[in-house]
Amino acid sequence: MCGIIGVVGIEPCVEFIFSGLKKLEYRGYDSAGIAVVDEDTIKLAKSEGKLICLEAMLDSLPKASSIGLGHTRWATHGRPSIENAHPHHSLGTAIIHNGILENYQTFKIELLEAGVNFQSETDSEVFLHLFNREMLKCGANIKAALVKLVEKLQGTYAFGVVTTMDPDSIYVMKEGSPLVIAKGENSHYFASDVIALVDQAHDFIFLEDGEIAKITAKAVTIWNRKGEVVERDFVTLHCSESRAEKEGFRHFMLKEIHEQPKTLKTRFEPLQDLPGPENIEDVLLSSRLDWDRITNVTITGCGSAYLAGMVGKYILEPILRLPVRVELASELRYQKPFVDRGSLLIAITQSGETADTLASVKLFKSAQGGAQILALSNSNYSSIVREASSFIDMEAGPEIGVASTKAFTAMIRDLFLLGIAARYHRHGISQAAWEAHCENFDRLPALCAEILAKDELITQLAERIHSCPSCLFIGRGISFPIALEGALKLKEISYIHAEGYAGGELKHGPIALIDSSMPTIAVLPFDRHREKMLSNVQEITARNGFVLGIGAENDVQLRELCSAYFPCPQINNEALQGILSVIPLQLLSYTSAVFRGTDVDQPRNLAKSVTVE
Ligand code: G6P
Repeated sequence: MCGIIGVVGIEPCVEFIFSGLKKLEYRGYDSAGIAVVDEDTIKLAKSEGKLICLEAMLDSLPKASSIGLGHTRWATHGRPSIENAHPHHSLGTAIIHNGILENYQTFKIELLEAGVNFQSETDSEVFLHLFNREMLKCGANIKAALVKLVEKLQGTYAFGVVTTMDPDSIYVMKEGSPLVIAKGENSHYFASDVIALVDQAHDFIFLEDGEIAKITAKAVTIWNRKGEVVERDFVTLHCSESRAEKEGFRHFMLKEIHEQPKTLKTRFEPLQDLPGPENIEDVLLSSRLDWDRITNVTITGCGSAYLAGMVGKYILEPILRLPVRVELASELRYQKPFVDRGSLLIAITQSGETADTLASVKLFKSAQGGAQILALSNSNYSSIVREASSFIDMEAGPEIGVASTKAFTAMIRDLFLLGIAARYHRHGISQAAWEAHCENFDRLPALCAEILAKDELITQLAERIHSCPSCLFIGRGISFPIALEGALKLKEISYIHAEGYAGGELKHGPIALIDSSMPTIAVLPFDRHREKMLSNVQEITARNGFVLGIGAENDVQLRELCSAYFPCPQINNEALQGILSVIPLQLLSYTSAVFRGTDVDQPRNLAKSVTVE
């Protein structure tokens, strides 16, 4: 979703802002713009479409300016257009916004009645005119005007403001949306994401909800929502992989799919050196869980993270012998969930910034029941991690492709390890069982690599799939959420309509769709659900349906039943098998999307980091 960035103290600042916007590109956007303060005026460049369009306009901006803002917009209120692109500008002030102002309509009516001329259809422009109105009311006291606005505005926001009334400062404020300030040499920056700033800075301040900051080249002053000064030190972060490159791959998504053996190996290797499972929690979690306290578990997330959470239920419930429920964060946040001292909330999120997941975490915290909150995230400095009582850092490296791949398998990997930790606490683990796990840790990365080497077969299969209007994915047990993830991947990047179903549900609706034009992809490892799945396959082929089976190499019976087959390596653990089964589905979606010529890394209408509802 929208990316925001600003700098004060770097001359010329335009180049820096533009390169920052490029680093935020992965979040998803449809227009972009930059505003700089040039002595007593504000200069803007805005464009619709990708940053390359904005780049062509940068020469129109003054070279000497050392203070400015940049924005990539993911349209919410108003279509993608130059008028709706940020920054918005009026009366010597320019603003950028990430978030949604929920009560903008009331203010817009007021402002229109007062004769204000709106240039755009956005909710964000309302903030600009409200700011100008407050400035008139409070004698051009910028801080006072912003404090008033924090009081009035509802919704989520991270705002950046530059104004000729204080041409050496940037003002920022936030509620719900992420905003980080960084210290450089004789300069300060802010952005919606640390990734945009790690090349310049190591020292960061994460602004809290309701806070306002004045940023100059030399100092940062923070106020709370009452206007009182807040003392906050910079924290030093050592972000190793600052630059995400394609490294010879055609797309980030393909590179990230190919990184999976590495993300598994990097996590598993240190565990193999442990004498036993007793220390697994120390390696995995920032602080230990109080297992004895847990009486109920809720897992939440959005998109692929939610589906990983479904796998988590299959892993954790039989070990804990406690109710484990999985809820979409967008639903959970509006429920009245049962929360007490025995509750454990596991919030799964690659970015750590997803608005609905964050709101669910806050809901559990505000319930005052004393729930433990465990975040499983790929960003150890994110808003959700900072709210949690303990976290697992997925350490999967930046995931740039909008469609989650390596983060999804890293989530299952870590839920599986959490399961081992839980089992150790609940029942103990024998040396033989631990050795069997270690053997799997050893085998899994190599088995993933085996799948990745079958690209020719994937191409043949994608040739069959990519021209179909619709596709069905089925599986049972852990292969059910894996089938859902397969369907999600295919629809996200190739725009082919796809549905995932539990095999047992086939007869309750989807079988009505089966004919020769609707392929079914059956995730069918050699596990306890195999016989039932074989029946499902037969039911489909009996109705002239095309079935692509993702099954074991030596499953001759299945191979003969299916219309097409992907021989998938097997491992004797259902959760780890889920990791193996999803990789051919990722590759199939990727290759189908390439055949269809879609924008694989930034598919239409989608955003990587969904920081608004
Ligand atoms: C967006 C992304 C998905 C991701 C979901 C949840 O929809 O496109 O890839 O699974 O958000 O994101 P999170 O960062 O919370 O895992």
